[in-house]
Amino acid sequence: MLFSFKKLASFASLVTVLSAFSRDHAAVASPLQARAQCAATLSTAASVASRLQSQYWNGSGWGIFWTDANTIEDMYNLMLADGSSTFDVADNTRIGQLALQQDRNAWISALGGSNDDAGWVVLALWKVGDYRINRGQDASPYYNSAAIVYDLIAAEWDDSVCGGGVWWSSAHTYKNAITNELFLYTSASAYLRFGDQTYLTNAQKTWNWLKNSGMRNSQGLWNDGLTDSCANNGQTTWTYNQGVIASGLAALAKATGDSSLLSEAEITLDATISLKTVNNILKETCDSATPTSTCDNDQAMFKGIWMKHLQFYLDNAPDRASKYSSFIGAQESAVFHYATGSEWTVGNVWYAPNQGGSLFTAQTQTSGLAAHVSAAKYGPC
Ligand SMILES: *[C@@H]1O[C@H](CO)[C@@H](O)[C@H](O)[C@H]1NC(C)=O
Repeated sequence: MLFSFKKLASFASLVTVLSAFSRDHAAVASPLQARAQCAATLSTAASVASRLQSQYWNGSGWGIFWTDANTIEDMYNLMLADGSSTFDVADNTRIGQLALQQDRNAWISALGGSNDDAGWVVLALWKVGDYRINRGQDASPYYNSAAIVYDLIAAEWDDSVCGGGVWWSSAHTYKNAITNELFLYTSASAYLRFGDQTYLTNAQKTWNWLKNSGMRNSQGLWNDGLTDSCANNGQTTWTYNQGVIASGLAALAKATGDSSLLSEAEITLDATISLKTVNNILKETCDSATPTSTCDNDQAMFKGIWMKHLQFYLDNAPDRASKYSSFIGAQESAVFHYATGSEWTVGNVWYAPNQGGSLFTAQTQTSGLAAHVSAAKYGPC
């Protein structure tokens, strides 16, 4: 593996430089959300995305149905940011093919009863739809399919067990954080997009349920889910659970004008920053710089989802951007300097130089992409 001089730079001094720049920038520039996105960071993101395509794209996807939904969302998030059309491949993906069919039964079959997968799919479909609108194209198959999939999830709400919540799957054996965090975010976002009161009602009932579910622990972090007796099961506080709650709460705050929801979100964002980092950089519990990381290909994508949903948090709470800008920049810098190997391959280990423990897969590549795209909008430049 080749090391550029940049990789040898002291990470601590880099963070200091970035923080100083961020302070200067904040002093002289208009609010972050109003500034142009950072061209250099977008260029890095495009290089990572190109590598994703050359190494992992098989003509219809990159590997796993739900991670593909996130990959699609990240690709279109990038193209909406940099104005390119290089990665406009959605129609060729399984998810895109289903979107074009707009057939409820085909969606039911493809989703296999996975309500969390369905939540990621809704977000991907909206992002492609947004891109189509942005380019003057027909977004209706994507938006219509998003509505079909959203309604499948909404039908999985069940008050009779643990007082509410959407089931993780149609097997009805588990209620967990991610499925309901996604339902909160998609419901509040659907209200902001389409104005239908039903969506707002769903968002509010979901937050009321989550808040009282016990899944947020005394440290402010969300554990994975509930036991059969409806208690916090104490399972891993995966990073993505700490990000998707925030995007949902900011969307609900925007929908209702209730800014106390942002404080609720930041309890968890700030707990993530203090408790789920090493050297101020996100570390999943399964990440290891030395041989070897134990993350599976689901877990390998979680940190990028945290970064993406912090971006979505700030999209609906732009006044909060200055608080998180330097942390976002530090993550992006770590992905560039520590996680990136030869030819723009990105591994799962962000927090330290890879000593052979990092995994390199389509999911780790996508996770890095999401970090760059988030930082292009809200990190220092
Ligand atoms: C390509 O990957 C997708 C998942 O992303 C998978 O469903 C499909 O079977 C793969 N196709 C080929 C030809 O391997």
